[in-house]
Amino acid sequence: VKRITTHILQEMKNRGEKIAMLTAYDYSMAAIVDNAGMDIILVGDSASNVMAGHETTLPITLDQMIYHASSVVRAAKRALVVVDLPFGSYQGNSKEALSSAIRIMKESGAHAVKLEGGVEIAESISRILTAGIPVMGHLGLTPQSIYKFGTYTVRAKEEAEATKLKEDALKLQELGCFGVVLEKIPAKLAKQVTESLIIPTIGIGAGQNCDGQVLVVHDMLGINKGFKPRFLRQYSNLFDVMNDAIQTYVGDVKAKSFPNEKEGY
Ligand code: KIV
Ligand code: NA
Repeated sequence: VKRITTHILQEMKNRGEKIAMLTAYDYSMAAIVDNAGMDIILVGDSASNVMAGHETTLPITLDQMIYHASSVVRAAKRALVVVDLPFGSYQGNSKEALSSAIRIMKESGAHAVKLEGGVEIAESISRILTAGIPVMGHLGLTPQSIYKFGTYTVRAKEEAEATKLKEDALKLQELGCFGVVLEKIPAKLAKQVTESLIIPTIGIGAGQNCDGQVLVVHDMLGINKGFKPRFLRQYSNLFDVMNDAIQTYVGDVKAKSFPNEKEGY
């Protein structure tokens, strides 16, 4: 199988083919996601929530991201693997940003990194790109800034924030990013940004007009039972599927029906 590259993603936008992106954090899930034909697998810092049970993405460390990323890379035969730089590993210090990105690339074997923010982190992005590491941007509801926002509600509804987001998107493109995630912003704004950019936009809660879509795999599979924001389409109900299987196992053990004679040596 031929590996998806950042160049192929650009060609997809150019010919109007949508880009499919989904998170994964471990080998077994990444193998399923890759096998299903995903274009991009994101080792998101949402691992902090989904894998570790933290309330926010802030606590996850660079070492933990590298562990998740290396597991995903071993499973991804076709997908481009993009890894989030975690909170505190790139903001405000471009040298630290570069060494964080280099560690991810070297120690996990991933293909690109993703950073949250616009003009504020331009120097960090430039430095990483100078080292030959592809960078994906992330604008709108950037969860590493949740304590600044104070809420997970939709961003850039006001003119000032929308204007800044449009400028940031152009800045990311000018710096050399190969794509940008737009999270939880009005569909109309996401459409404007998508049309103004040559590089692909990947939306999550950003309407129908982005060049691709991304979701958290546990959310779309219905493993996170309580989580049902409007933007999320739930493609399965794995919490219940798995719960049924596991309850049946417990029952079989208690009833002494597992293992049976044939299931022993
Ligand atoms: O960490 C993550 O899962 C993400 C996506 C939601 C874009 O950054
Ligand atoms: Na993220």
